[in-house]
Amino acid sequence: MNKTIEVLLNDQIKYEANASMHYMAMASWADEKGYNGIAEFFYKQSEEERVHMIKLIKFVNERGGNVVIPALEKPKASFDSLGELFADFLKSEMFVTEQINHVIYECLNKKDYNVHNFMQWYVTEQLEEEAVARTLLDKLNIIGDDKSGHYMFDRDINTIATAVDTEE
Ligand code: FEO
Repeated sequence: MNKTIEVLLNDQIKYEANASMHYMAMASWADEKGYNGIAEFFYKQSEEERVHMIKLIKFVNERGGNVVIPALEKPKASFDSLGELFADFLKSEMFVTEQINHVIYECLNKKDYNVHNFMQWYVTEQLEEEAVARTLLDKLNIIGDDKSGHYMFDRDINTIATAVDTEE
């Protein structure tokens, strides 16, 4: 495996791992505040990022590359509002998308079409995750500070997220 690509894939393993812990902290914050639906949503997101990480680890190993299991960043643990929580979620997904685009750019540069092909799954996944994050943030912006709106958002979030996911 090309060394530059190997380094980038290891970086990507770290970004997915960090996203997983980041969303775990968001889930725990929501759980503590009594937002059970939001907590469930982020526990699930955290699990998905872990799956993204493992998929990369297995791929690098299968290709004879060297995986370095990374140390993790301490995630942000408290949020001033639901708006901040979901703005952070979108920001995190946009960062991951940017990194994936970077890997793909280098794959084309180094003519590594095998990794390029493998990364297409992540491109599709990011499209879906960004769409979900944007939709949820848009809804929260409409709701503003309305407490009963927050109650309904928490109740409906998993239905909304699944609906956006299946639209893609
Ligand atoms: Fe695997 Fe949502 O980044």
